[in-house]
Amino acid sequence: MPATSNAKLTDAPVNRSASREEAPDSSDADLDAGRNWYLRNCSACHGKTGQGDGHSSGAIQPKPRDFTQKVWQSSIDDDAMRRIIVRGGTAVGKSPYMPASSALAKKPKVLAGLIVHIRSLAEQTDNDEDP
Ligand code: HEC
Repeated sequence: MPATSNAKLTDAPVNRSASREEAPDSSDADLDAGRNWYLRNCSACHGKTGQGDGHSSGAIQPKPRDFTQKVWQSSIDDDAMRRIIVRGGTAVGKSPYMPASSALAKKPKVLAGLIVHIRSLAEQTDNDEDP
């Protein structure tokens, strides 16, 4: 039997959106960088544990999203999340207080890690509130 190599096939990333440069395979996610990015740039509003209760959240209406809401988590896909994070609230018809992080357009691995982190915030709670 000839030795056939399946290496090429099995190593190929399952990339459902190859045409979109901001949508990397999630196995490429830089989890540490994503978490650090969150703590540095997002937790002031969304809160360290994602409950929308960061120290800058007080006067903002509507409130920064509570990421622990499982119902909300399942209502938004990763593409929509990437869109609001990179372009900001105004660009998608939401609050102008939600800032654009345009630098992340050039850091797809950090952006992927950031989204994995946001998703993980709901896994640690029993929050079944409606968004
Ligand atoms: C100055 C406060 C502030 C900061 C900083 C901030 N956000 Fe937000 N964010 C908001 C507010 C307010 C909303 C709610 C927008 C709305 O519902 O109209 C929001 C909403 C969101 C949403 C939910 C959008 C939806 O469809 O419900 C995501 C995702 C999000 N922010 C991610 C992030 C990430 C990631 C960062 C850090 C890179 C970040 N935000 C930094 C204020 C902030």
